[in-house]
Parts: sequence; C-alpha cells; structure tokens
Amino acid sequence: MSIRIIGTGSYTPDRILRNSDLEKMVDTTDEWITSRTGIKERHIADKDTPTSELAKQAALRAIEMAGIQPEQLDLISIATATPDTIFPSTACVLQRKIGAVNAACYDLVAACTGLIYSLEVAYSLLKAFPRKYRYALVLGADKLSSIVNWEDRSTCVLFGDGASAVVLYNNMENDQPDFVVESKIGAAGIYADLLSMPAGGSAKPASHETVDQHLHCIQMSGKELFKLAVAGLVDSCKEVLTVSGISAEEIAWVIPHQANMRIISAAAQRLDIPVERVYVNIEKYGNTSAASIGICLDELCRGGKLKKDDCVLITAFGGGLTWGAMLIRW
Ligand code: COA
Repeated sequence: MSIRIIGTGSYTPDRILRNSDLEKMVDTTDEWITSRTGIKERHIADKDTPTSELAKQAALRAIEMAGIQPEQLDLISIATATPDTIFPSTACVLQRKIGAVNAACYDLVAACTGLIYSLEVAYSLLKAFPRKYRYALVLGADKLSSIVNWEDRSTCVLFGDGASAVVLYNNMENDQPDFVVESKIGAAGIYADLLSMPAGGSAKPASHETVDQHLHCIQMSGKELFKLAVAGLVDSCKEVLTVSGISAEEIAWVIPHQANMRIISAAAQRLDIPVERVYVNIEKYGNTSAASIGICLDELCRGGKLKKDDCVLITAFGGGLTWGAMLIRW
C-alpha cells in the first residue's frame, strides 16, 4: 500500500489588485506594503464568484493531472474559512459542480493552516480505511476578499483570493513509501481573538449592529500574531525534522504559508534553510489563506522543479491559532 500525490492544481481569479490601486482606496503606499510584507499585488474574485467556483477550477486541474474521472473520487476534503454558506458545505457544492457523485464531502476550518490539516485528515482516512477510500481530493480554498474590511488599511492590503488542490491515491499494489514522511499539527485556542471574524455564527448571529461594526470582517492583532507565527512555523518544522531524522540539508524545498515575507525570512533563518530553497510567491498573490501552500506546490510541480523522492517541507500558521508542518516525499 502506498499513498502518493498524483495531481496538483491551483487557480487565482484574473482580476489583479495592485498596491498602486490600494493607494487610492486607503491611506497606504506601495513602499509601506512592499517593505512590511513583500506583497506587490493580489488576485480578487468578482463579487458573485463564490469559494466553490475557485475550488472547482483548482480541482479540475488537479484531477486532469491525476488522469482520473471525478466519479472515482471517494473523498472531498476542503479547508476553507470562507465557505459559500455555513451549510451546505462548500465540499458538497463542489461535488455537484464537478460530478464527484461517489465522494464523501466535508469542510474543515483551520484558517491559513487549512491545507495541512486537510492533508493530515484525508491521508489518515486513506491509511486507516484503504478499501473505502482510494482517491481523495484535498483542497485549500478561500475568498478572503469577501470578509475583508476594505476601509481597514492594516488588513486589506494583506489578503488575496485563490484555491489549490491535490489528488491523493492509495495504490494497494505498490509498496513505495507514502508521501507523508512526518507531520505535526497543533492549536492554541487561548489566542483565538488575535485573528477572527467575530460575527455570523451562533455566538453573534448577523444583525444590523454586527454589520455596522464590521464584525463580519477579519479582525487581527498583527504584531502579536507576527511573533507567534514565527514560533509556530519554526517549532513545528523542528519537531517534524527531529522525529523523521531528516536534516535541513536534505530538504529540496520549504514551502511556508505566504503571509508576510518578513515572517518567512525570520523562520528560514532560524531553521538554517538557505533562501534559495524557500519557495516564495507572496509578491503575486498576497496571503491566500488555506490556498497559499497548494498554489506554491502546484507552481513548483508544473514548473518542473520537483524530482521524484524530493523532500518538501510545508508549514503554516493561522487563525485559531493553528499551525503545522508536514514533510512530504514527492
Ligand atoms: N499602510 C501604511 N501604514 C500602515 C498600514 C498600511 N497598510 N497598516 C498599518 N500601518 C501603520 C500603523 O497604523 C502603524 O502606525 P503608527 O505607528 O502611527 O501607529 C504603523 O504602520 C506600524 O504598524 P505595525 O502594526 O507596528 O506594523 P508591523 O511592522 O507590525 O506590520 C503587519 C504590520 C500586519 C504587516 C505585521 O504585523 C504582520 O504581518 N503580522 C502578521 C499578520 C499575519 O500574518 N496575519 C495572517 C495570519 S495567517
């Protein structure tokens, strides 16, 4: 039995919002955004394009690369903090859109760590129940533009929309090692208030007041998050490397969640990983939340930059707080 990634896909909307456009919307500058975050532009979906539509485009690309039909999927696991609706799940909406009629479907919320959580859960299901689950579609998809307060300069410059997908396959006739070498996911609910969308759930159902107070938008304490983010990335990566016995020199690529270039640089430095082996595309997309790592992985894969058996370390942190690292064998 061998569980491997057999397809990747990603999608970002065509519309690009540049720093120069944001200069006209809020009191900010290209220089401030670039120097504090590394972001130059981000892709923004149309108002009437939901997360499931972004996910659909990424899913179709991953399925095509995998060379399978949607009916063969046994599972759809979507990480998203911006579902089309609270229910039905975005995974069920996607199932209908791509015709994956045989798949069990669920959404999972771990904010920007979502794809790593989603991979961990789907991989575990394939491993535990090989006769039930052979093909899984695992996605991270977010339309953060739908929950950004476009008058708040401290958050609106950071985020973009996108989706990414991978297809996992459990090959029962093969005894190669699985794609997961080692992984670690964690959470600290005590920091829940540092990054949240306070209203719209059962704690604060939508009302005129919640709308007036922008409580359906992202609220963030950037400075506190910054420090916790670096620690979350570094500690989870160190644990995965120690437990797996794989050294930093053996890693072909590190793919960190793309939230802030300064967070990425600080984490890489502490892990002693040279910048040439850290994949970064934050300048083009900003922080696409659960989609970010998968977009990087797809770019690496389609760019021919991954060789068989390369070790790729993916790592993220996000609202919750949540964090995680997964060492992948390509
Ligand atoms: N343009 C211009 N000035 C801005 C600005 C913007 N877009 N946003 C904030 N500022 C101002 C602040 O008001 C503050 O002004 P003041 O000193 O007069 O009060 C100043 O810039 C510095 O703000 P500060 O919050 O200290 O900046 P920072 O260096 O911490 O950078 C973040 C802010 C948000 C970029 C940074 O804290 C960060 O990236 N944090 C992590 C956020 C994150 O990753 N979130 C997602 C988690 S998945």
